[in-house]
Amino acid sequence: MFADEYPRFIELSELTPEWQDRRKDRRDAVEQRSRMNERYEALFASNRDIFDGARVLDLASHDGRYSFAALKTGAAHVTGVEVRQTLIDRAQLAFDFYGQEPETYRFVRGDIFEVLAREKFDVDVVLCFGFMYHTYRHTELMYRLRNLAPRHMIVDTMVTRDPERTLKLIREPDVDDIRSAAPDAYSVGRVLVLRPSVSALQLLLRAYGFEIESTYDWKGRLAGRPPVPGVEGYAAGKRVTVRCRSREAAEAAGWESVAPLPIGSGPRPHTGGSEWTATPPPTQLGWRERVNQTLAKVTGYELRRTSRKR
Ligand SMILES: C[S@@+](CC[C@H](N)C(=O)[O-])C[C@H]1O[C@@H](n2cnc3c(N)ncnc32)[C@H](O)[C@@H]1O
Repeated sequence: MFADEYPRFIELSELTPEWQDRRKDRRDAVEQRSRMNERYEALFASNRDIFDGARVLDLASHDGRYSFAALKTGAAHVTGVEVRQTLIDRAQLAFDFYGQEPETYRFVRGDIFEVLAREKFDVDVVLCFGFMYHTYRHTELMYRLRNLAPRHMIVDTMVTRDPERTLKLIREPDVDDIRSAAPDAYSVGRVLVLRPSVSALQLLLRAYGFEIESTYDWKGRLAGRPPVPGVEGYAAGKRVTVRCRSREAAEAAGWESVAPLPIGSGPRPHTGGSEWTATPPPTQLGWRERVNQTLAKVTGYELRRTSRKR
């Protein structure tokens, strides 16, 4: 398993006291290893087809463990963007430890919004892990990502379990925590962030030209196993992993189209192949949903809410 093969990232987080996470709920080494292994399977191993030779942009790259994972899954180059220098230093130590060729990676220190506004990136795959709930500037983020025109993007994020399209306002409990959202030019002391619901995430992605190809089937992966440490959020549906592709890139490449997801539908499960469960069978749908489903198929848009009561 990935974390067992490359334990240095976890060792560094455990061994270096000045870098230790202040939060009381910080993950211990066992939990980190389990989380890293499970996430590797969901985020990388099951998406191997898009990493081969890819140029990858890893937003909020933290200590570089998932940038490194991208390289080990076949990426040709990875650029990590991280606001905290201590984390970039830690990434550098781990990359040096494993003898990773310097020409295959680059870490940029800075706020994601500033970096995306000032730098040009030539990328095939964007990793947006653990950031969609660290900002309230979702439209700006999506605008920048759209302009990057990556072939694929994988989003891994905490979500609210609200079936409506909502963004829940949350105050970061501790901005000095190395896992937290960083203050930006518009923060006055406290840092406020918005956590999306699954429907809000779907809409954000689609509105900026990303088609959802699949959502990782965490429930299926964890079913029938004793509780797996470090991935409780996924098991409880409080965190999702979504693979999407640029509509433009798909059209240019002549890829088969992906049916849009009806509002409020569960995501297409993704277990590693291209196996998707599209919409529920028509017999289970009421007349409103059937009309909406047809409209969505024909127009590519969902024109109104399903019949679910407000
Ligand atoms: C929850 S961690 C996610 C780390 C990693 N991507 C993952 O999924 O495990 C969030 C990371 O984002 C970084 N971060 C937060 N706000 C940022 C910003 N505006 N620009 C760049 N990095 C940021 C934090 O320093 C932290 O390393």
